[in-house]
Amino acid sequence: QTRVLTGITTSGTPHLGNYVGAIRPAIAASRTPQVESYYFLADLHALIKVQEPERVQRSTLEIAAAWLACGLDPATVWFYRQSEIVEIPELAWFLTCVAGKGILNRAHAYKAAVDKNREEGEDDDAGINAGLFMYPVLMSADILVFNAHKVPVGRDQIQHIEMARDFAQRFNHLYGEHFVLPEALIEENVATLPGLDGRKMSKSYDNTIPLFAPRDQLKRLIYSIVTDSRLPGEPKDTEGSALFQIYQAFASEEETQAMRRAFADGIAWGEAKQALFERIDAEITPLREKYEDLMARPQDIEAILIDGARRVRERYGVGMMKRLREAVGLRDLS
Ligand code: TYM
Repeated sequence: QTRVLTGITTSGTPHLGNYVGAIRPAIAASRTPQVESYYFLADLHALIKVQEPERVQRSTLEIAAAWLACGLDPATVWFYRQSEIVEIPELAWFLTCVAGKGILNRAHAYKAAVDKNREEGEDDDAGINAGLFMYPVLMSADILVFNAHKVPVGRDQIQHIEMARDFAQRFNHLYGEHFVLPEALIEENVATLPGLDGRKMSKSYDNTIPLFAPRDQLKRLIYSIVTDSRLPGEPKDTEGSALFQIYQAFASEEETQAMRRAFADGIAWGEAKQALFERIDAEITPLREKYEDLMARPQDIEAILIDGARRVRERYGVGMMKRLREAVGLRDLS
């Protein structure tokens, strides 16, 4: 049995990047034989960035509904809120005490925040909370508490998985072989989905296309994707084209080849955008209907999450923490 685990931070509305980078490959993995899946809502991670309770709650509901609408089956997948697995922050502390501080200094998200402060002439750590610094340790605990083998993520998360391996190795070295070393699972042709402005699609850049935007908004957003100023009839580059890359993430191999030829033949940007809209809309519309239906029944989503957390803790979390407490020399609480 291979254990596959992934999470999405509940700090906003799910977007197409989350869908192609995490949700779609994770749902596909959950349907393969011999796979046991753990998919969760990273609501403790959300507190690093979002300090508005209603927003965290709203986002939790939206992301849970997105997973379910995209086909997650809570009867066969462990589906839960991170914050309800109380073993996770406890394990995060154990890992904090073996993690090299120098490694955390090099984490991309923390470094980017420091670099921004430097650019703006501020102190290195101005306005940065310690949660951002410890982010990779908490994420390692998410993965290691269930000893996951594979973690389907977008390319931006690879460094975090490498850190999880490092912390796991250090812990094993000190206390015995408790953890397997997790591996990132990257979908090659969609490793990083660009956003409206061509940079990585990200909540922090405000360049996202919400996964379940109503059709008219979806169309408007797709038409606002940046392109160069080449006219109809002029050949267009696929290299570096956000439009092309997004198309590729949604189309078959053949459709992608056809679009590549159309670019070379000078397709008008408007026409390419229409084709992209139709492609995404065809894939998302059936899911959107399920999403809207689920969002109208928040109490059902709550019940699924509460049940999922209770069962997975009983099945794995409690026993794992018992062994780890013993391994480091703490009293057994059971
Ligand atoms: P988050 O919430 O930023 O993103 C959730 C998932 O979506 C992927 N993703 C993308 N993939 C392709 N193109 C994009 N533009 C794009 N934007 C986001 C991310 O790679 C991620 O897979 N730290 C994680 C959440 C987390 C987690 C974990 C993941 C917490 N604990 C344990 C795996 C295992 C995060 O903030 O992802």
